[in-house]
Order: sequence, then structure tokens, then C-alpha cells
Amino acid sequence: MKILVIGGGGREHALVWRLARDSVSHELFCAPGNAGTEALATNLPIAAENIDGLAQWAAGARPDLTVVGPEAPLCAGLVDRFEKLGLRVFGPRQAAARLEGSKQFAKDVMQAAGVPTARAASFTSAAAALEALADFSLPVVVKADGLAAGKGVIICQTREEAGEAIRGMLEDGQFGAAGSLVLLEEFLEGEEASVLALVDGGRIALLPPAQDHKRAYDDDQGPNTGGMGAYSPARVVTEDLAREVRERIFKPVLAELARRGITYRGVLYAGLMIGPDGPKVLEFNCRFGDPETQAVLPRLEGDLAPLLLACATGTLDPAALKISATPCATVVMASEGYPGAYAKGREIKGLDTVAAMPDVCVFHAGTARKGEQIVTSGGRVLAVTAWAGDMRTAVDRAYQGVAAIQFEGAHFRRDIARRAFERL
Ligand code: AMP
Ligand code: GLY
Repeated sequence: MKILVIGGGGREHALVWRLARDSVSHELFCAPGNAGTEALATNLPIAAENIDGLAQWAAGARPDLTVVGPEAPLCAGLVDRFEKLGLRVFGPRQAAARLEGSKQFAKDVMQAAGVPTARAASFTSAAAALEALADFSLPVVVKADGLAAGKGVIICQTREEAGEAIRGMLEDGQFGAAGSLVLLEEFLEGEEASVLALVDGGRIALLPPAQDHKRAYDDDQGPNTGGMGAYSPARVVTEDLAREVRERIFKPVLAELARRGITYRGVLYAGLMIGPDGPKVLEFNCRFGDPETQAVLPRLEGDLAPLLLACATGTLDPAALKISATPCATVVMASEGYPGAYAKGREIKGLDTVAAMPDVCVFHAGTARKGEQIVTSGGRVLAVTAWAGDMRTAVDRAYQGVAAIQFEGAHFRRDIARRAFERL
């Protein structure tokens, strides 16, 4: 098959890598890709948000399947556009991608479907939001309704902080249009987990649960990031809990969307808080997680392309999704300063050493080629991934890979998968 993967991060490198391991060989393209995908695919110099440019390329090249990594092109209607060209795409259409693109829409759907989630109220005026603050206990969560590159969620310990967050969004236009509607949300306690499902418009196949590490520093300290590491399986999601998530979350949400005339195809990602009353939804994403994908795809048995194509064509056989018992962990190495302003263009050394290590794979995220060198070009630079018969060995291997790689100012968390080893 001729396959186009859209995006240029660690998630997309993992997708390209896994497609390249299918039992039949594919002709792979990645737009824009990175220094990791270029070894396995033809990188196209077209940005993931450039829907006109992508559609123009696809109209000529006619890929058999397009796989969309990031949320921005999905929310901007890339799938609708490609389908008009008669092309098959793995990913939801614009109307379904709103589950991620509007937190208010997701809340409406969840409320109508009776899906457990945090209590919330939404506001377009700062005065009304400030007044309503009194109805929420502390901490309180202030969220921009729209896409804000992972920065639109602020957990506020005091009412002053919450006031600042509200004014920042509604009066100072901090997140532009994405922050012109603001949600106040009850703070949920518990352990987070990511459960992703392949969906073909009707049928659901749950991928193995994973756990991300959103804070920048060890012990969940420091600012929120896109994710500093992940591992799968996540022990907190037992088989019973996964069943509950399918029955009480995925099924009713898809049924409610269907009731509204919306078909969901692609990956549906439920970010969950597992607390004393069971799982509650923190957010939905309309795409694969990053870095969860890097910890989940190495566990997939069999071919990936037919599964994705089946989702795109409404022919998914959930029994065709086979997952190995082998645990997998991925450690993100980030640039100096990330998640704030960060340095770029620093030479990365040691990649060859890691390439020779068995059961370790380095997924590139923010990397670029500069002559003979591979240099840093993003905040999250690499996701060093390893698998083994047990989680402890997988994590140790991933850190052996990390230890072999150097670039100036690199930082990473040293406690990825810690919860897998804690006593329950
Ligand atoms: P979101 O983008 O909605 O997943 O939010 C980013 C992160 O903020 C989540 O992964 C959680 O760690 C945290 N968060 C979001 N909403 C809540 C909530 N209602 N209670 C506690 N933590 C939350
Ligand atoms: N790992 C979090 C996300 O992909 O949104």
C-alpha cells in the first residue's frame, strides 16, 4: 500500500516504524516527518497544518491510506477534504474531531450520554466566571474550550490564581479564539491513565492501556508538558476496569454522537482519572497520544495498516487486534528549557550506539538533519523506547538507551513507570 502519515513527532515516527514492520512492504510518505522518519519513509516538506498543500499532494499521488497524527489538521477538516477526493483516511472528520477541539462540546456529549466526568460550567464573560468561582472548591481547573497546544488547562490552587487564569483567557485573549469560551471544572483526584480505542464508525477495539507523565520533573513536579514518558500496560487499568471504560464511556459516547448524526472513525483517546468512584473522563483526544503511541505500538502483533484501513472503511474486526504481553516503556529526552522557550540546533550524539542495542528503539520527535549531523529541532527531542519480558527490565533498558545519548542541555524524567512498581 501507498501510505501517507501526517505529522512530524515521536508519535508519527512510531507509526511509520510500525507500518514498516508489517509483513507486506508499503510505500511510506511522511509530511513533514523528521530525521527519524526519513530512514523509513519519504519525507515531504509540507506542514501538518497545510491542508491545501497536503490535499494537492494527495490528489496527485493518490495514497491508498492516509494516517493523521496531530489534532490540528483533524479539527480543521483534513479528513472531510481528503474524502471528497475519494481518498481513505484514518482519523475522524471535523464534526467528530470536535470531541477534542471543543471541551464544551465534549462535556455536552458526555452529559447527554451519562458518561462520568468532572462537574463543569462554561462562560464567555469573565465577570460571570469570576462570580461562579464561589461554587467550586479548591483546587479548581480553568480550561480554554478550544485547542491550545496542551497549554489551555490551568490547575489553580487559589481563587486569585483562578481569577488570573479566567481574565487571561477571557479578557486578555491569551489563547485567542480557543480561550473565548472558558470552562471551570471540579478538580478530580486519583491516578491518570490513557485508554485509546480504534473505532470504525460502530465497532470498538481497545488498545492496551498506557500511562503518560505530563509534568516536566520527577515526582510529578513542575509545569505540564506534552508528555515526558509513557509505559504500557498501565497497572491501574485492570481488565475489569477496561471493560467498564468500554461499556460506560466509549459505547455511550459513540452512541450519543451517532444520535447527533456524527460518525466517529479513527482513534478515540480517553484521558481518564481513576478515583474512588471509578474512571472519570478528563478529556477526549481525537488521535493517537504522544508519547503513549511509542509505548503501545511496539506491543502490537500482526500488521498495522489493515487495522487502520479497516477503521477508515468501517470494516474493523476487533478480534484482529492482537497485543503481546511484553511490557514497553518510553522515556522522552527534551531540550533545555522545555516546556518553556527552548534551544534548537544542538548536535545529538550516541544514536548509533543505541541502534545496536537489542529491544531498544529511539523514536525521533524534534530532530532534523544538518549535513551529516542530527540536531535538535523541537522541545521533545527523542522518545527512547524499550521492551522486555518484565516492566523493570524494559524501563532499565530504556534508561540504558538514554544514557548512551548526549546533546547539550538534555533533560528527562528518571521515574518513568514508577507507578508500575509501587505497592497497590
Ligand atoms: P487535559 O488537556 O484536559 O487532559 O488536561 C491536562 C492535564 O490537566 C490532565 O492530564 C490532568 O493531569 C489535568 N487535569 C485536567 N482536568 C482535570 C481535572 N478536572 N481534575 C484534575 N486534573 C485535571
Ligand atoms: N500524551 C498526551 C497527549 O497526547 O495528548
